[in-house]
Amino acid sequence: MKIAFFGDIVGKPGRQAVEYALPLIKERHGLDLAIANVENAAAGFGISERVMKELDATGLGVYTSGNHIWDRKEGLPLLEKKNTILRPANYPGNPPGRGYCTVSVGGAGVGVVNLQGRVFMPHIDCPFQTVSKILGELRSRCRVIIVDFHCEATSEKMAMGWFLDGKVSLLVGTHTHIPTKDSRILPKGTGYVTDVGMTGSYDSILGVEKEAVIERFLTMRPVRFEVARRDIRADVLLAEIDEATGATIRIEHAQYQLEE
Ligand SMILES: [Fe+2]
Repeated sequence: MKIAFFGDIVGKPGRQAVEYALPLIKERHGLDLAIANVENAAAGFGISERVMKELDATGLGVYTSGNHIWDRKEGLPLLEKKNTILRPANYPGNPPGRGYCTVSVGGAGVGVVNLQGRVFMPHIDCPFQTVSKILGELRSRCRVIIVDFHCEATSEKMAMGWFLDGKVSLLVGTHTHIPTKDSRILPKGTGYVTDVGMTGSYDSILGVEKEAVIERFLTMRPVRFEVARRDIRADVLLAEIDEATGATIRIEHAQYQLEE
């Protein structure tokens, strides 16, 4: 089973990059399921009905998110309405939506789980204990399980990778928007990357206009951020998973750049 996982989509340029890259991936590698992190998809903050409709039309099948999913109130009902749009599973209390889902891909059940880290981030419930509980339930229903760990610290992501080795098919780190050059298959068959990267403007700071971010660092006061629009690229993790064992058998990072 061939999977493509897009790094955090930032605003309209990010959506354009998915539209550009998905057909190329299909043509060059083949594709059974495309997943993307969409927490920054609507003008950099959260999601909206219109934006998700646009992304659905590109052929994406499952969406993950993170801390910014709460930024746009109009997007929150979508978490309840559509079971393929996930928020991190380890938020405390009773948040709207769900942290994992299952989809059928060519007759095979695929589980997708969304978690968020706690190092340099809000102290939500333990992602390690949360994922253990979820896997207990998912494993009887699907052999292929993909986890998005939305997380700041590389150490926390690596710890989760080793913790889940042999228990899930793929662990994809998101949130930093910077692709790490370490995609690999761990000894027990789990495909791993610390961070898949970003789908959006590379002439930017994490997808946002550079000047505003620099001004914020200089003044330490709130500054309005706008999505940057030049040098648009899609960072994508491409993986092939053996449906019989759930193990990853091939993994690579690819970057697609739109022509200016
Ligand atoms: Fe994030």
